[in-house]
Amino acid sequence: MQLRQAMASTISAAAATSSHQYLRLVVVVAAVWLMLLSDGEALSLDYYVQRCPKAEAAVAAAVKQAMATDKTVPAALLRMHFHDCFVRGCDGSVLLDSTSNSRAEKDGPPNASLHAFYVVDNAKRAVEALCPGVVSCADILALAARDAVALSGGPSWPVPVGRRDGRVSLASETTALPGPTASFEQLKQAFHGRGLSTKDLVVLSGGHTLGFAHCSSFQNRIQPASVDPALRPSFAVALRRACPPNNTSSAAGSALDSTSATFDNAYYRMLLDGRGLLSSDEALLTHPKTRAFVSLYAASQGTFFRDFVESMLRMSALNNVAGEVRANCRRVNNH
Ligand code: HEM
Repeated sequence: MQLRQAMASTISAAAATSSHQYLRLVVVVAAVWLMLLSDGEALSLDYYVQRCPKAEAAVAAAVKQAMATDKTVPAALLRMHFHDCFVRGCDGSVLLDSTSNSRAEKDGPPNASLHAFYVVDNAKRAVEALCPGVVSCADILALAARDAVALSGGPSWPVPVGRRDGRVSLASETTALPGPTASFEQLKQAFHGRGLSTKDLVVLSGGHTLGFAHCSSFQNRIQPASVDPALRPSFAVALRRACPPNNTSSAAGSALDSTSATFDNAYYRMLLDGRGLLSSDEALLTHPKTRAFVSLYAASQGTFFRDFVESMLRMSALNNVAGEVRANCRRVNNH
């Protein structure tokens, strides 16, 4: 698609935003588009307009329907998209099931707590019924993550589409995902290594405005003998109550912020208040530059929303592979 056409689509899709916000959005979409030119087929905003005009609506309906009975769905979809993009790019590799020959990403340790894959399956069934073999699983996940944010009270944005699904998914590669005890330097490297900035790290960590973490993800910070001094003492006590040392429940844990079903900027306010849940969240306060972004987003939800959209556009555009459109998101196609 020509750049002018991409811009025209952006104009209509972003009509709801203010002119300044809109201009920034256009610049980011254009940058993503240009970046992708060198990677074979470019993503575009109107890829499905002719090929499957009702695809986006079908994905949104599947997300909405699942959310009606399962409040954990938005967080799950947003995290799933992040884990997809950080391993082999946004190619739907996280959606593949393991086979008798190979353990897939899904079964790698950092992905053990991913869930709600059924929502992607439902969306895929819906789009296959409309236009078989056209809409990739990777695109479905990128769209579903956007819808999850928007339907939780966060911003919405036009998602460039046309991703292809990869044919490789290896549990061993999930060690590249940053873990909850990652230091600032490790987090920075994980993002820089994928062409994302330190600012993207702070903005996208704001995804922790949604959802939940199991005790194992923050147990290291609440040991009675060595409580992390960065934690507000009353918060550490509450977390220890939720996760006692003898806890055996695999469902135990804590919400990532105080309004964990709503996409807002409470995550940043809690972080400044000594109530950030993960060490990796806390790490954002250890460097003056990232601390300044945390303060900025804590003070202005509008700025957080605007920057989140820009960073999501960058992350969602990682590594457009020359793959296929899977018939079933859990399996590669038979050739
Ligand atoms: C910066 C590095 C990051 C680290 C180290 C990290 C780590 C984690 C960990 C350990 C959990 C809890 C898992 C569990 O105990 O079940 C979690 C949950 C979550 N993460 Fe991250 N994360 C990072 C970045 C991101 C990004 C970039 C996003 C999305 C933009 C994101 C979205 C989420 C969401 C929504 C949840 C809640 C999932 C649920 O409730 O099902 N995270 N993350």
